[in-house]
Amino acid sequence: MLDAGFTGRGERMVNSQALLSVRDLRKWHELKRGLFGRVDYVKAVDGVSFDLKRGEAVSIVGESGSGKTTLGKTILRLYKPTSGVILFDGIDVTNLKSRELREYRRNVGFVQQDPFGALAPFMTVRQILEEPLIINKIKKRERIKRIRSSLEEVRLTPVEDFINKYPHMLSGGQQQRLVIARAIILNPKLIIADEPVSMLDASVRIEILTLLRELQRRHNLSVIYITHDLSTTRYFSEWIYIMYAGKIVEKAETGEVLSKPFHPYTRALLNATPDPDPKNRFVMRDVPPGEPPSLANPPKGCRFHPRCIYMKKGLCDKKEPPEVEVERNHLVGCWLYA
Ligand SMILES: Nc1ncnc2c1ncn2[C@@H]1O[C@H](COP(=O)(O)OP(=O)(O)O)[C@@H](O)[C@H]1O
Ligand SMILES: [Mg+2]
Repeated sequence: MLDAGFTGRGERMVNSQALLSVRDLRKWHELKRGLFGRVDYVKAVDGVSFDLKRGEAVSIVGESGSGKTTLGKTILRLYKPTSGVILFDGIDVTNLKSRELREYRRNVGFVQQDPFGALAPFMTVRQILEEPLIINKIKKRERIKRIRSSLEEVRLTPVEDFINKYPHMLSGGQQQRLVIARAIILNPKLIIADEPVSMLDASVRIEILTLLRELQRRHNLSVIYITHDLSTTRYFSEWIYIMYAGKIVEKAETGEVLSKPFHPYTRALLNATPDPDPKNRFVMRDVPPGEPPSLANPPKGCRFHPRCIYMKKGLCDKKEPPEVEVERNHLVGCWLYA
């Protein structure tokens, strides 16, 4: 069971194997409107639960606007959760403040979509890597050692060729390597990589994903890989979680999701993934029409029901489906299986 160790909402025991446990996490963005400051909410993350073990990678896959970035940033505690619980290494980090929050963040590296935007343009490679070390009061000699070894780890070598360069002097792939070097320089236990390759040329995408996978294995890191592109997950993660409109609708091992998808949305995503075989280039794909719903006003019942060809009136449009274990370790939130 994915949820081993937990006895339900609110109640919890420490799951000794999980590095990260997220329970019923919600992040509603507040939007203040109008003269009287009426508050509306965008329910970007709306009841997400999962465990991630040490050394394992999970891909969180969903269309743009499904709440993936919000989920990542809430786990990083760049956002304050609206409700729910985040346990990291046995510690409740949901409401941490100031010093303890800084300590938690040291354990979580972040890689964003746009490497250039993530790097201060007026700082050199060395200054960029040294900054988190200075903030964390690492002594000078140790700083130099760590800068060197992290550049070697991401293969920006020979180190001397890179250390005094500015971000704009690097290619997109090299910039992302630098972001990754910065993300690992404090020896984190978890990396959250939010669409780390979607802005890069196709030719360097595999390189960067392979590098992340290598670092994960070498340092027994846990990784949350966020992507809209199901085809990049195959070689990357142990688990795939499919996210739709603020919720996870299917969770299983990577091979299971790719070969035996249960949720109609997962099937649609798989259909929309280009087949690498040139013979099948012109095969028509059965993608449901429409777009993901607005999270300011999500549909009642199952959030996918307006786009679903199996929609049962009176059920799917009224009641939210429960999460059902359809096969061992394969969880699906859909009335077809409940
Ligand atoms: N800081 C924010 N304030 C208000 N709304 C936000 C904010 N960040 C994201 N949103 C909204 O939350 C929803 C989910 O966005 P996001 O988490 O970026 O999804 P994804 O990464 O899957 O594209 C979208 O409707 C987006 O407009
Ligand atoms: Mg995003």
